[in-house]
Amino acid sequence: MIESQDILIIGANSRVALELVRRLARNNRLYLLARNAGKLKQNLSALNIAPSWSASVDCLDTEQTRVLIEKAWRESGGIDLAIIAYGILGEQIATEHNYLLAEEVINTNFTCVVSQLISLSNLMEARGSGKIAVITSVAGDRGRPRNYTYGAAKGALGLYLQGLRSKLWGGGVEIYDLRMGPVDTPMTATHTKDFSFAKPEQVATTMVKILDSKKYTAYIPGFWRPVMWAVRNMPEAVFQRLKFLSGR
Ligand SMILES: NC(=O)c1ccc[n+]([C@@H]2O[C@H](COP(=O)([O-])OP(=O)(O)OC[C@H]3O[C@@H](n4cnc5c(N)ncnc54)[C@H](OP(=O)(O)O)[C@@H]3O)[C@@H](O)[C@H]2O)c1
Repeated sequence: MIESQDILIIGANSRVALELVRRLARNNRLYLLARNAGKLKQNLSALNIAPSWSASVDCLDTEQTRVLIEKAWRESGGIDLAIIAYGILGEQIATEHNYLLAEEVINTNFTCVVSQLISLSNLMEARGSGKIAVITSVAGDRGRPRNYTYGAAKGALGLYLQGLRSKLWGGGVEIYDLRMGPVDTPMTATHTKDFSFAKPEQVATTMVKILDSKKYTAYIPGFWRPVMWAVRNMPEAVFQRLKFLSGR
């Protein structure tokens, strides 16, 4: 990024967010929101980084999150870039039997993010400038038995971002949808790692470049764009035969 900016990161304890913090702290002022305050303190001390402002909140508490976003806005004199990085994968099979677990996955990955998008986009629209970037997932491109509750939430979020981007188009506010493939982080700690897994350092470096690129729907790493085009457009009959896609 060329000039120093006021950057708000929501979900700052996520492994990918911490890599963004490491890169963006060099020449920007950081405002951080994370659920676990003790963990954030430890993470920042390990990185030897002091943000301009930080606070803790569970994003499922949308009202308190709104209050803190407005506080960060006042403290900074206006956020230039907001990055929303938190999320949960949940246990897919458990979410198929227990609505409350499904609701938690959907609220954490979709409805709560919408509440923060409402706060941030209205503040930025009134000022006439700003960028909002949200980490979504390739899981949102086609429902699969392995993760369709999470995928549905991320897919809905992608659609919301698309609409918000068009609403704000030309008015100085840019909306980025950062569609990540699998990454080796605590979220995927129990998953068998194969060639498709990227490293947090690698995806964070790519994200920082994308935020200046005006590539508003980005696949990270980039090879996921053609792969997901094929997966999205695959006829049902072919999809069902390919068990690495349609199986558990
Ligand atoms: N890892 C992957 O393979 C992958 C692939 C595609 C997309 N993504 C998306 O990328 C983003 C970052 O993922 P990651 O892998 O870096 O995750 P991670 O290291 O597992 O961290 C997830 C973070 O989400 C925060 N969080 C969860 N529920 C929250 C809530 N209710 N309120 C506030 N914070 C909450 C946690 O906060 P605390 O630590 O403070 O409790 C945690 O730090 C997420 O949106 C994820 O869905 C991940």
